[in-house]
Amino acid sequence: MRKKFVAGNWKMHGSFQKNAALLDSLKAQSENLACEVAVCVPYPYLAQVQALVEGSRIALGAQNLSEHASGAFTGEVSAAMLGEFACRYVLVGHSERRTIYGESDAVVAEKFAAALASGLVPVLCVGEKLDEREGGLTDQVVSRQMAAVLERVGVAAFAKAVVAYEPVWAIGTGMTASPAQAQDVHMAIRAQVAALDAGVASGLQILYGGSVKPQNAKELFSQADIDGGLIGGAALVADDFLAICQAAV
Ligand code: 13P
Repeated sequence: MRKKFVAGNWKMHGSFQKNAALLDSLKAQSENLACEVAVCVPYPYLAQVQALVEGSRIALGAQNLSEHASGAFTGEVSAAMLGEFACRYVLVGHSERRTIYGESDAVVAEKFAAALASGLVPVLCVGEKLDEREGGLTDQVVSRQMAAVLERVGVAAFAKAVVAYEPVWAIGTGMTASPAQAQDVHMAIRAQVAALDAGVASGLQILYGGSVKPQNAKELFSQADIDGGLIGGAALVADDFLAICQAAV
């Protein structure tokens, strides 16, 4: 049985004061949660949040990393640097990175490899845009995004990774994929991995992301292939994030 996992993606939000207040509330109630919990925070807050979550059940993650190990890459942050802050997770290929910053499937695959090489757990984000869904291309787009990484690192690497299905049209829009729509894609992702290694596929945590709220979390998380959530807006509100975690049992 796969353990449920709920990760917050704070995106470009936070301040020292807000982070401390949010983590205080989360820590106070996280001990009783059945699921794994992580927060993926902006780089400048890694040290602060590392200290705040120390000794708690809340794991630390980052939202992006460089595909390079070191060198003349102004503004970039390497996997090894994230490791120095005791980061366990790093988001790779979030749709905002793909669409706003032009990260290609090939770059995403290199970032995934760089995370693994440093002992971080990559959370590979995949998902189709609205026009792609309307054009009936959802499975094709998601399987292409998955294949780029599978070909680069091999299926065994997915034993040490997490996948997040985030339909782009559902992110920050209040338009959640229905539980059945999400389940269909999660099942296809697992089948794609299972075609290469059934054991890896059955252990792989596949999270859903896109307007997850306390009201819809339980039904989403009760689908057979949905192993938790990657939460944006609701991860910034302690009560909402905790309620979503409580729905992951
Ligand atoms: P929302 O939960 O705000 O839709 O964001 C989802 C997301 O992009 C998480 O990575």
